[in-house]
Amino acid sequence: MSKKIVVLGSLNVDNIMKMPRMPLVGETMALTDVSTAPGGKGANQAVAAARQGADVSFIGAVGNDTNGQFMRTTLLANGINVDSVMTNGDVPTGSAYIMLQDNGANTILIHGGSNQALTISDLNEELIASADTLIAQFEVPLDVITVAFKIAKNNNVQTILNPAPAVYELTPELTAVTDIILPNETEAQLLTGLTVENTEEILNQVSDALLEKGVPRSIITLGDAGSFIADGSHRWWQKPIKVTAEDTTAAGDTFIGTLASVLAPDFSNLDEAVHRASTASAIAVTRQGAIPSIPTRIEVDSY
Ligand code: RIB
Ligand code: NA
Repeated sequence: MSKKIVVLGSLNVDNIMKMPRMPLVGETMALTDVSTAPGGKGANQAVAAARQGADVSFIGAVGNDTNGQFMRTTLLANGINVDSVMTNGDVPTGSAYIMLQDNGANTILIHGGSNQALTISDLNEELIASADTLIAQFEVPLDVITVAFKIAKNNNVQTILNPAPAVYELTPELTAVTDIILPNETEAQLLTGLTVENTEEILNQVSDALLEKGVPRSIITLGDAGSFIADGSHRWWQKPIKVTAEDTTAAGDTFIGTLASVLAPDFSNLDEAVHRASTASAIAVTRQGAIPSIPTRIEVDSY
């Protein structure tokens, strides 16, 4: 049976600006290409889970504009339930401005818009309570995430927190209701105050610092260095699948959505789930755009 997943999160239209390298302050530089694609960390994670066959519902908000319609249509086209996607006429749909360099690396600016206007009253309690897993990121207000995670834990729903971007402190109130936290290296650094380096020793220290905040498990995604998993006393480094990077946008989101789609309620298959998540994310890196780059179950199976 497919897993029931609720994603509480952001919907953004991504404006992709392709450039040979990052511009310098004061410089005028020509872009080599511009394009748009559906994205937003919430939407990307929801689509990643749905393309693995999960039964996904979305809680979020769009503006009353064409970008909002585009994002709603995108979720629907991926078989995602949008009954809890609000339309807020006071603010524009969220947007992102992605500086994509030739080597596939990206730097992202976001405008929260409707994502930031989401409120606690937009939460559908029944929907959360009926899920197997609830996923959230940090592109919607922290109070909304905290209340949603409390509802989830009161109903034995697994909670996955992607603290991205790392704009909020990890409050004890939130970590107490989080089953697994998944930052990337930059976010792990901001959240712990430690400098992340890819050595076992440092990654153990950073994981300790995350777990000390009251979360039982952490996975730090390390880009082309794989990911580091800390599950209580059990630690391991999932080595990367080597690919040529076209666009790393949504690689982490693909990892998270895929992980959630296969993770057992008791986390007993974490190892296997991480492996599948790494494969899906490696495929996403080889393609441009956020949602357009996310692989299907068949693509991951046959990789
Ligand atoms: O994680 C990638 C996503 O971050 C992009 O799709 C962009 O919209 C921002 O939310
Ligand atoms: Na991509």
